[in-house]
Amino acid sequence: MSYILKILPNRQIGQLYTGKRIHDQDSFDHLLELVQRGMSVNVFENDRTFSLEHIKQEFPAPLQGDMRTASIDLEQENGSRIVQFLYESHEIFPGKPGLTGLPATYVENDKEATTLHITLKDALLETKVILKYTIYEHRPVLARSAEIINEGSQHLTLHALSSFNLDLPDAQYDMIELTGAWARERNIKIHPLHEGIQSIYSLRGHSSSNFNPFFALKRKHTTEEQGEAFGFSFVYSGNFLAAVDVDTYNTARINIGIHPFTFSWPLKEHTSFQTPEALLVYSSSGTNAMSQTFHSLFRERLARGWWRDHVRPILINNWEGTYMDFDEKTILEMAQQAKDLGIELFVLDDGWYEGRNDDTSSLGDWFPDRAKLPEGIAGLSRKIEQLGMKFGLWIEPEMISRNSKLFRQHPQWMLQTPHRPLSHGRNQYVLDFSDPDVVDHIAGMLENVFDSAKISYVKWDMNRAMSEVYSSAHHSNEQGMVYHQYILGVYSLYERLLSRYPDILFESCASGGARFDPGMLYYAPQAWTSDDTDAAERIKIQYGTSMVYPLSSMGSHVSAIPNHQLYRYTPLSTRANVAYFGTFGYELDPRQLTEEEKKTVSRQIAFMKKYRDLIQFGTFYRLLSPFDHNECAWMVVSNDKKRAIIGYYRMMQRVNERFGRIRLQGLDENLKYSIQGKNYIVYGDELMNAGLITTDASAGEDNKKFKEGDYLSRLYILDAQ
Ligand code: GLA
Repeated sequence: MSYILKILPNRQIGQLYTGKRIHDQDSFDHLLELVQRGMSVNVFENDRTFSLEHIKQEFPAPLQGDMRTASIDLEQENGSRIVQFLYESHEIFPGKPGLTGLPATYVENDKEATTLHITLKDALLETKVILKYTIYEHRPVLARSAEIINEGSQHLTLHALSSFNLDLPDAQYDMIELTGAWARERNIKIHPLHEGIQSIYSLRGHSSSNFNPFFALKRKHTTEEQGEAFGFSFVYSGNFLAAVDVDTYNTARINIGIHPFTFSWPLKEHTSFQTPEALLVYSSSGTNAMSQTFHSLFRERLARGWWRDHVRPILINNWEGTYMDFDEKTILEMAQQAKDLGIELFVLDDGWYEGRNDDTSSLGDWFPDRAKLPEGIAGLSRKIEQLGMKFGLWIEPEMISRNSKLFRQHPQWMLQTPHRPLSHGRNQYVLDFSDPDVVDHIAGMLENVFDSAKISYVKWDMNRAMSEVYSSAHHSNEQGMVYHQYILGVYSLYERLLSRYPDILFESCASGGARFDPGMLYYAPQAWTSDDTDAAERIKIQYGTSMVYPLSSMGSHVSAIPNHQLYRYTPLSTRANVAYFGTFGYELDPRQLTEEEKKTVSRQIAFMKKYRDLIQFGTFYRLLSPFDHNECAWMVVSNDKKRAIIGYYRMMQRVNERFGRIRLQGLDENLKYSIQGKNYIVYGDELMNAGLITTDASAGEDNKKFKEGDYLSRLYILDAQ
């Protein structure tokens, strides 16, 4: 991609071009859109061509002729919010520095990327803004953030600072969003841009299941396979606002940052503020290519640690199997059965800490309930290890129950606005993670548990949106810092635990997928995709999630039927055929499986062990959208294109249907592939053009022999000969 900037005549930074890579040349000045306009506000006397209302910019300032969304809102001691951040200097260097305390994409070698820092200065305020850009050498990715440094003597208040601003010269785009709610996260919504502001946002304290911090702009005719698309992603887990401001001249301004409504930062003399990072991915060959760029970036240069490059253990989680009603005997019986089936990791979910028998108590009291677990987590984890399995534990460190020792000792530690009613979510309240003392105390409790036991995996949950946020640890004029400092507190606890326990695999979770965002992936390489484990719903949720996030990040489990969220019956084969396309595991009581089911489950586990390397590290393609069809299909191709696996799903069985074919992608057109279950061998070009036949001819088109019914699925495995 090319991203072309210019120092404008008034020394602000102009945006000249963003898109497919074009030839470099000495000057692109002719792309500066200067034209005589009658009634605009202009910068230079006797010149009606240079109006900030029309000039494409990188860091637009408010209230000085540009009437669109601005990148900064900075209140000064005299009450003014006019700023003039003008070019002072720039520096270009290899590599990409980290952002202290914040998640960010990174490089392992300075040759992987080049960074540009542009320093802008407001001379009156003696304050600088550094715009930070990194462009990757072999990925069509631009990372951007901004830092403001007050070098003057005024006490400033920062009400907004964008991470990213991009002015596009036209607005002929469809916007793709991932919207939803609890148990129906990240459904794909597509709508044309229209004049005015269209935005996605969170004011929930987490990034939310309602609007994922991602959107894309694609041309009307762009498909998964071809055409232009821009993807935007915000590497942050708290309140955000991502907007496209379409003016009445058919231009589109993209603006991404922390949500200003819950943000106000006292920028005292000689202090600074760094925004989170936003990412731009460019594709000239469709939305699959855009997603693939995000997938490899997030898998390789956002996720960290040992687990980044390793296939994920097949786990069993006891949540839907027992909920909070268990004891050590039950857990060990389940674990033994799971072990016999080939499962590698046992995850003990909510309910293991003192007094936790329902959701009204105990959050904050992170010590084992001896009534359920007489030898604590130490004893249980040792016994599970003795069975030949790894042990994992669920925690929810950011929360507190009123009925807890922690609350009785530290009632002021929960976020609550003085003299106002306090709303609960699932009977629980939010700890003040903007206060380092609170974070430190919780860390100490968790470290006691982790040190005492053999823990290989941790599921870190966060089960409510935040409300009535106010911190008693902060002064009244610092309350606008609290939401952001809360998230910094979460990040700091992750960092502390990761550096102390580098071998632990973390999975993030927030009532299912309410914090499935790139910020979290920097700490936890996988996330629980949704509390909805119904296979039919999961097809949509995982399909939508794949717009941005790699399969290796998607927690996906087989659960029992009738499904606990929808009471729907789906075949065991389909439940696995959906869950394979993620990290894979089971979330049920294995003692309830019939002998026949156990045999099937063993085969499923053996299958996943064989193919997880391909699934979790191959190239993923969406083929057929469940949002548009009765069917869904996707596939993963190995990096050498010699092997591929296609997941095909059909919701409702229909009578006398069309003959089914799916055109595959990403194969080598000159290689011949065998297809497991079919007795012919075909070239890749045939499979990508004529297609793979999905109709089962032996079943007969009148369905008489076709007993598989609704929610049918099949996997097709291709091997190059
Ligand atoms: C949330 C999670 C579930 C489970 C429960 C436990 O809903 O998403 O997977 O861990 O909490 O309370």
